[in-house]
Amino acid sequence: MTNLVRPHGREQLKPLIIRDKKEISTILEENKSSPTLLLNSAAAANVVMLGAGYFTPLDGFMDKKNSLSVATSMIMSDQLFWPIPIMNLTNSKDSLSVGDNIILLDPNVDGNPPIALQQIESIEKFSDGEIKLISQNIFGTNDSNHPGVKNFLSLGKTLISGPIKVFNYSYFPDVFPNTFATAFEIRQQLDSLGWEKVVAFQTRNPMHRAHEELCKMALTSLEADGLLIHMTLGKLKEGDIPGDVRDAAIRKMVEIYFKKNTALISGFGFDMLYAGPREALLHATFRQNCGCTHLIVGRDHAGVGDYYEPFAAQEIFENDLVSKSLKIKIFAADHTAYSKKLNKVVMMRDVDNHSKEDFVLLSGTKVRDMLSKGQDLPPEFARKEVADILKAYYSSK
Ligand code: ADX
Repeated sequence: MTNLVRPHGREQLKPLIIRDKKEISTILEENKSSPTLLLNSAAAANVVMLGAGYFTPLDGFMDKKNSLSVATSMIMSDQLFWPIPIMNLTNSKDSLSVGDNIILLDPNVDGNPPIALQQIESIEKFSDGEIKLISQNIFGTNDSNHPGVKNFLSLGKTLISGPIKVFNYSYFPDVFPNTFATAFEIRQQLDSLGWEKVVAFQTRNPMHRAHEELCKMALTSLEADGLLIHMTLGKLKEGDIPGDVRDAAIRKMVEIYFKKNTALISGFGFDMLYAGPREALLHATFRQNCGCTHLIVGRDHAGVGDYYEPFAAQEIFENDLVSKSLKIKIFAADHTAYSKKLNKVVMMRDVDNHSKEDFVLLSGTKVRDMLSKGQDLPPEFARKEVADILKAYYSSK
């Protein structure tokens, strides 16, 4: 048995999934006449993460006091560090009562089947001012042009808190059978690989040359046992490359360009928030739950547009509360770019005698722009095999 880093706030993972199908049938039978609530996609993604152990040690949806406290101070009333409120917000006018058990329905699967049972501990309303306060703290803005804010503002102001029992992982195991994994399964995989020092790479993009080299630099400089490439499989903003295409591109790149047994490819079912620094903290927290010791945080991690300073997602890890609460550390990467002088991808801080013109700057946004215009990706941007997969997707759109 390897000695993996322990989960956040607890010795053991706390997945809220019920593994026994019979127990689920019994719960559904007992709650035949219980009220139901159709979740929004954000709340359903929270259910999947709670079920899969990623959000250990939480046992369900936060109440108003904890949500506000997490948003403003990143701490819960039991002193647990948590970076982003995990809320079941609804617009529903259906009458629910404190003490009820409710069956939560999945908005992302045809027929809206049950995804979890929630015990209602409180039903509270946020004022407009409180919603703004939360948005400002999580996203650093209330601007409804920000895709994360826009979505957050649409979720509703009624907060339903209480513990949940999860029945399934929504559409993720069916759509991504080889890639979706729970935190528990990832821990098992790391254990069987015998890895202890593990660096995680968060991505919502197919991996371009900058991503690839960033991972290789992290592996080498940390002398890590391995790399967990851990991709977002949930909902993204318009224009982002869908999960199945990204998955295929990443698998091809690892197969050809990584040493055998150095990278584990996996994914998690959560919608992207584009919350920059706060999301980086959430990313780190749930990678610790997967057993990782490090998370790569580069330029504009989980960012969108110009909402965040390029390295704000690294700076937030210097906060005392964060550094004393999390065991996982970051691999703080500088801007990675292609050097025309050295003919390779470098971290800009690592090279001397370069002017701006000596670099080709690589970014997912630029790659998506070129692809949508039908342009070929140069080798400085993407491996040919990756470029072929992306081109095929763009020409089929
Ligand atoms: S994210 O929204 O999932 O963070 P993305 O897939 O683009 O987006 O980035 C994955 C990780 O790679 C992030 O830590 C990001 O900061 C880092 N990254 C991406 N491109 C670069 C680059 N050119 N230089 C430095 N870091 C980068």
